[in-house]
Amino acid sequence: MSKDTPDPMRFLVRKVDSANRVDGILLSGSIKHGDSVITVPSGQQTSVMALEQNGNKVTSAEAEANLSIDLTYSVKLLEGDVIACAENTAEYADQFEASIDWLANEELLPGRSYRLQTITGSVDAVGSRLKYRLEGEQQIAANTLQCNERGVGNIALTSPIIFDPVLTCGKLGRFQMLDKTSGECLAEGEIRHGLRRASNIHWQALDVDKDSRAAIKNQTPRIIWMTGLSGSGKSTIANLLEKKLLAQSHHSYLLDGDNVRHGLNKDLGFTAADRVENIRRVAETAKLMLDAGLIVITSFISPFRAERDMARTLFAQGEFIEVFVDTSLEVCEQRDPKGLYSKARAGEIRNFTGIDSPYEPPEHPELVLDTVNLSVEEAADRIIDYLQKQTT
Ligand code: ADX
Repeated sequence: MSKDTPDPMRFLVRKVDSANRVDGILLSGSIKHGDSVITVPSGQQTSVMALEQNGNKVTSAEAEANLSIDLTYSVKLLEGDVIACAENTAEYADQFEASIDWLANEELLPGRSYRLQTITGSVDAVGSRLKYRLEGEQQIAANTLQCNERGVGNIALTSPIIFDPVLTCGKLGRFQMLDKTSGECLAEGEIRHGLRRASNIHWQALDVDKDSRAAIKNQTPRIIWMTGLSGSGKSTIANLLEKKLLAQSHHSYLLDGDNVRHGLNKDLGFTAADRVENIRRVAETAKLMLDAGLIVITSFISPFRAERDMARTLFAQGEFIEVFVDTSLEVCEQRDPKGLYSKARAGEIRNFTGIDSPYEPPEHPELVLDTVNLSVEEAADRIIDYLQKQTT
């Protein structure tokens, strides 16, 4: 935007006094009596009837002023909404392209859910794809960002926000990315432009739905999410569980790490970023299978709490059953069914879970299976019992 173009008027609503009177702050541009304005996101047109600054009536005001505005017509406004000049309104969308300055010591994990904070509020956000990293003006291919690196990528939000490209309005174009658990600021960003993809791709509502698909199978669809170290017994238990479900005429499907990594996820390795993407794809696939009316068993190390929690958010209350296959590293290493621990100890495999890559045990799993004291049969029966108790 050239310097000759005046900054567009943006007013952030901090308090709604009535349907046509609000208090707030003028973020950019200027405002005067009689101006045509539009409310964002409700999109209603009205005009400025009166302005008050510090309790005094004024005819106009400039950016940074705290104001009360009387509007000509009643409109739908909430705290955090924006009043914009009618000829050039702010955007409202759930995807945008942004530049990100990564500040944290741990790397950016595209696919992980972060908290995105703007001047209007905060919302959950996932960096869907990093396009490149910037070194000066130079664009360098990159999948992640390390501390003090700058990159450009697309960010998808769980719900739309009001924003402007940073060149249109600095205050509405900047954001921070926060750790969802600690609240620590991990990155600062600037919005380049909105992406309207989400509003163009509608979820097709189908007449045959999850309930009808489940009903002809005579079952309640569920996700049985098994997590634990490599060699903990996840796949062995999952296998027997599926046999038991089949014997009871249930329709199930087992998504297993070793198998899925041969097909859908064969492009992924074992870096933290790849594991995040592995689990994101598995969770989305499991969701489609649940929608098909199936009992889905997933058997993945799924080492990070953040991604297991993200998976849980895709499902309704009670549908997602997190099963912690709790086997200590010492026992897994003794068992070493695939000989991978000894290779990892010898330095032949890098980023091996439990050796040089972390495992974060679940804090509140629905079930814990202690495989040292339970046989495979007993472990599978615990899950069957849990399912039966849940549906009776
Ligand atoms: S996850 O961490 O992304 O959830 P996933 O369950 O898909 O992992 O795959 C784990 C399986 O891959 C292990 O059971 C093991 O057979 C194999 N594997 C190969 N390399 C590694 C590694 N570096 N860390 C863990 N498992 C590995």
